[in-house]
Amino acid sequence: MALFSADILKKRQQQAERAFGENPPLVLIGAGNPISKPGGLDQTYPFIPHPEYLWLTGSTRWGGVLAFDPQQGWTHFVRPVTPQERLWEGDPEAPEGKDVAQLSEWLNTRSNHPIVVLGSPPETIEDNAERTTEYRTRLDSVRRIKDAEELALLKTAVHATASGHAKARETIRPGASERLIQIELEAEMFRNGAHSMGYGTIVGAGTHAAILHFAPGEQIVQPEDLVLIDAGGAVFGYTADVTRTYPATQFTPQQKDAYDLVMAMQQEAISKCHIGTEWHDVHRVAATVLARGLIDLGILNGNVDELLDTGAIALFFPHGIGHMVGLGVRDVGGRAPGREVGRRCCGVGIRVDLPLEENLLMTVEPGLYFVPAILDDPQRREEFKQSVDWDALESWRSIGGIRIED
Ligand code: GLY
Ligand code: MN
Ligand code: MN
Repeated sequence: MALFSADILKKRQQQAERAFGENPPLVLIGAGNPISKPGGLDQTYPFIPHPEYLWLTGSTRWGGVLAFDPQQGWTHFVRPVTPQERLWEGDPEAPEGKDVAQLSEWLNTRSNHPIVVLGSPPETIEDNAERTTEYRTRLDSVRRIKDAEELALLKTAVHATASGHAKARETIRPGASERLIQIELEAEMFRNGAHSMGYGTIVGAGTHAAILHFAPGEQIVQPEDLVLIDAGGAVFGYTADVTRTYPATQFTPQQKDAYDLVMAMQQEAISKCHIGTEWHDVHRVAATVLARGLIDLGILNGNVDELLDTGAIALFFPHGIGHMVGLGVRDVGGRAPGREVGRRCCGVGIRVDLPLEENLLMTVEPGLYFVPAILDDPQRREEFKQSVDWDALESWRSIGGIRIED
């Protein structure tokens, strides 16, 4: 079964062509090649096609190149199936197209045209970083809008992900290990339609929850632990990205206050997600809720806007409110034309710097963390001497961290 219909692929290619503008160059979009495991002889890491190539061709096969010529349109060059491949891997579904061996001839007959290489650049072709950035930005502007066929894949990924998280919830109890929770969660996602995990599953018990991308290990859940789980099932590379934080038994009063605060951040942030809202403003809304809450809990002192503008709030919320998700856990992203790279907000770099549009797919993932690497840093303690009640903070640290992501 083809991943996308011929109609939708044609539409995407037309959209890309329009985005390339007047007098476009030749554009090559490479699928990429598998990466060998060091010392692994013939072993490779699982192949992930470059998302630009997958989106424009619907093919997950390595070695292909989609080529655009402004006069002649699109030509798909594919790697032919070999007898060796049939022997070791079975009969793959190879897309229709010309043998990729003919690409150099295609290029030779157009040698006086400027060329831009997107996707994973084929090794033999020299690219120009500046032009690549320009045309990638143009392609991003159409690729970040999710179409109906992408949303259908994502619905399957979301169903698998919801099933896995429900299973994880049942598995959490004192005595269970992070690994057991991971196993049960991932198995349930696969049972419910996931092909792979969209990213490395995060299961952090107790203070491990303060490590933003903690990889689960043998740690045993204790009765007073919170357990943070961030995991998403993927279908053909389309992934969900969901985080839940649960008490091993029941919330302590402090944990409940902290959890309710993160929930309020998320609800307030989601309520601001309308067409036209600046993504930075969504972050700021969540940071505002957190600052007010931490003042009420006696952890922060002072004026809310000042706590945001000085970056004091980032001691407890050290990442952005979310990112684009879909074809990969970090989908497209980017910034509106003319904006500087890496504009910061509330003390953190925010990956996405755009107003919201219809059919963008964003995660909203506020968090409140007590990260030793941040809180024990002498420079920060000096800088935020007045903003934080450092003594009052001590009793909160065992919470680790809380994130809620949808
Ligand atoms: N799963 C990593 C993230 O939430 O972005
Ligand atoms: Mn996540
Ligand atoms: Mn995320």
